[in-house]
Amino acid sequence: MIGFMLNGQKVESKLPPDTPLLWAIRDEFNHTGTKFGCGIGFCGACTVHVDGRAVRSCITTLEMVEGAIVTTIEGLGASGQHPLQKAWINVQAPQCGYCQSGQIMQAAALLVDFPDPTDNDIAHAMNGNLCRCMAYYRIRDAIKLAASEINRSKEA
Ligand code: FES
Ligand code: FES
Repeated sequence: MIGFMLNGQKVESKLPPDTPLLWAIRDEFNHTGTKFGCGIGFCGACTVHVDGRAVRSCITTLEMVEGAIVTTIEGLGASGQHPLQKAWINVQAPQCGYCQSGQIMQAAALLVDFPDPTDNDIAHAMNGNLCRCMAYYRIRDAIKLAASEINRSKEA
């Protein structure tokens, strides 16, 4: 069995060690906010955090996360209150919504490295997260809004 922390809970997967983390997250542990898109690391729909870094869970195996801290969209903020989640709602970023949990998880990792990101920082960091609905400008606006809220709360 492969053990790791999932959204603050210790879990043990009974699946084979070479199983993609995405399947364990969705099918074994029922955290279905993380989505399957391409399955080959190209679209970003399956993005989660492993030890605080954004990874594609469709190409990350269970054995690669043994002992790690895994966070999905469900664990990002209590009751959807993370500044990114609130900003996403404020700017009405999603259209169909399918890509959005991956977008938010990628954006959360971006804000750790770039607390006050420029348009270029955002374009570079979010480049691998595809959106069929072309919500890119609203996603960028939401990231900037969240960054300003986070920085304002640090100053208060
Ligand atoms: S489903 Fe993982 S990157 Fe597309
Ligand atoms: S909101 Fe539909 S794929 Fe991004």
